[in-house]
Amino acid sequence: MIRFEQVTKRYPDGTTAVDDLSFEVAEGELVTLVGPSGCGKTTTMMMVNRLVEPTSGRVLVDGRDVAGVDPVALRRKIGYVIQQVGLFPHRTVLDNTATVPALLGWKKAAARARAAELLELVGLDPAVHGPRYPAQLSGGQRQRVGVARALAADPPVLLMDEPFGAVDPVVRERLQNEFLALQATVRKTVLLVTHDIEEAVRLGDRMAVYGQGRIEQFDTPATVLAAPATPYVADFVGGDRALKRLAVTPVTAGDLDPLPAGTPAPAPRSVPLGGSLKEALALLLQEDSGHLTVTGADGAPLGTLTPAGVHRALRRATTGTDAG
Ligand SMILES: Nc1ncnc2c1ncn2[C@@H]1O[C@H](COP(=O)(O)OP(=O)(O)O)[C@@H](O)[C@H]1O
Ligand SMILES: [Mg+2]
Repeated sequence: MIRFEQVTKRYPDGTTAVDDLSFEVAEGELVTLVGPSGCGKTTTMMMVNRLVEPTSGRVLVDGRDVAGVDPVALRRKIGYVIQQVGLFPHRTVLDNTATVPALLGWKKAAARARAAELLELVGLDPAVHGPRYPAQLSGGQRQRVGVARALAADPPVLLMDEPFGAVDPVVRERLQNEFLALQATVRKTVLLVTHDIEEAVRLGDRMAVYGQGRIEQFDTPATVLAAPATPYVADFVGGDRALKRLAVTPVTAGDLDPLPAGTPAPAPRSVPLGGSLKEALALLLQEDSGHLTVTGADGAPLGTLTPAGVHRALRRATTGTDAG
């Protein structure tokens, strides 16, 4: 859906922001671009909607070189969310959300109805928050409006530049969860920039780890954490990468031990098969018995997870095989 072909961007002052970049984002995929400040993430993103033009190479959206697409038409098909949100201060939240449909020439009532629907989708009450002005909202609420506005014309592609960067960690985690739930239903093709490795791991189907102007590794978060491609990536993901992997490694049937005799049908504490090892370990640590019941889709107990099982699961995620 988005394709970079050997893209280089040199700014007029001689800075090479992006150097020979090639990667692809599949339809409906969420790819995070992560790296330290100044490594070229924003430049990469802005070449998708032509806010920045490549010095060489091509950027394709839906098979078309964007260099040949009218920038205004292009941007209407690409939602854009930035950290500063960029809401119009003198327009209500409802009118801010309706911006793009209004630009596209929708009738006022239709644009407002769509905006109300989107506000609801991002967890705001259109009746309460719609008539307010941006300054009357909290930072987290403004970010939600930014997401609603970007989605209003139902664009197939969404660009998000540090979208949750301006809010405190608790609100950020809530916004991330809401966004994941939203993405599970709307399935946009998303490019999301962050400097936060935890956020990149949490949100990305795949992640691109940036060095200076280059991608050092492009893979699933589980693989990046299990097998960093270079010493730079290993350093960037941190010495606790094994712990970070708990969040992106699911509990599978092969990780389980048989249920002990006398396991009750509804266990007081349990995780579903496919839940994360992080969630499982947190519960396991509270179990006096030293093992945790794992349930199937129907809620019935399937087996138990022990500390040895957690270890096995992590080994499996590392090597692709069950180390026994
Ligand atoms: N308009 C510009 N003119 C000159 N240099 C720029 C411009 N925009 C960004 N840069 C430089 O390009 C590099 C990459 O910037 P950017 O893409 O904003 O990085 P990131 O988003 O990863 O922090 C940095 O060295 C930055 O200073
Ligand atoms: Mg940036």
